Amino acid sequence: MSQPKILIAREVFPDVVERLRAHFDVQDNPQDTIWSPAELAAQLADKDGAFTTGSQRIDAALLAACPRLQIVANMAVGYNNFDVDAMTAAGVQGTNTPDVLTETTADFGFALLMATARRMAESEHFLRAGLWKQWRYDMFAGAEVHGSTLGIIGMGRIGQGIAKRGAHGFGMNVVYHNRSRLTPALEAECKARYVEKDELLATADHVVLVLPYTPASHHTIGAAELAKMKPTATLINIARGGIVDDAALAAALREGRIAAAGLDVFEGEPRVHPDLLTVPNVVLTPHIASATVATRRAMANLAADNLIAFFGGRGPLTPVNQ
Ligand code: DGY
Repeated sequence: MSQPKILIAREVFPDVVERLRAHFDVQDNPQDTIWSPAELAAQLADKDGAFTTGSQRIDAALLAACPRLQIVANMAVGYNNFDVDAMTAAGVQGTNTPDVLTETTADFGFALLMATARRMAESEHFLRAGLWKQWRYDMFAGAEVHGSTLGIIGMGRIGQGIAKRGAHGFGMNVVYHNRSRLTPALEAECKARYVEKDELLATADHVVLVLPYTPASHHTIGAAELAKMKPTATLINIARGGIVDDAALAAALREGRIAAAGLDVFEGEPRVHPDLLTVPNVVLTPHIASATVATRRAMANLAADNLIAFFGGRGPLTPVNQ
């Protein structure tokens, strides 16, 4: 019997490609070409499965052009690139890579919070530009982290990881807002207290966004929400672009309505809103929260495992639709 045909939509670790070649007829993308939706559909037209990285849109139009497709394995925990309803209607399985990136991503969220509060990017640019002439009492004086109030919006696994780092490592007072409350046991473990979103925005010194991107979470933070934050507060987004209105955020940063922001994700990335590039009080990173070598390997292998298990008749390991 012929092997299932698989497309690997972006370049990935060569040994993961080799693992997949042991099970499938693989077409990979060693040139790391970024395909348009039409080009992706053409590449997938004769494939039974796909390995994607979170930036390839899988929607009804693509599915209509790919009648053989049975599974799309995302190398990402987020799957807002999937139209899950359209995939379910077409009988296409979607999978993601939860758990393997939780702690690494929480580490990065906390690192971005620290870099933002303590103005690390701004001060490093100042030093590299040769502008450091004298010590000054107020030079790059930032916001306190230890003992401050940490507000987390989106209290899934990564949000809980950030809460634990803040509460246990830095003595922070942790409040959170989520679609549903954690169990009392989990709240105790995270030392986190549930509050309404407005209370969180008004009281947090550092607001961290870790919620999934859906139509309902589009612009969760816009001009109105920024106006509710303290002028001394920072905003950290490691979730998805689109959760923050980047134009409104750039205006709030420029006008000092909040102190600073740390952003790993952007609306329409890799494009970054030009106004964000011109304000100094924002730390900008290129969607790297899960980017350690070990974690990216684990994500790639879990995506591969999903394809192998699915076509081996064992069912997907981490399905996003049933
Ligand atoms: C994820 O896993 O969702 C990260 O954002 C990487 O895409």
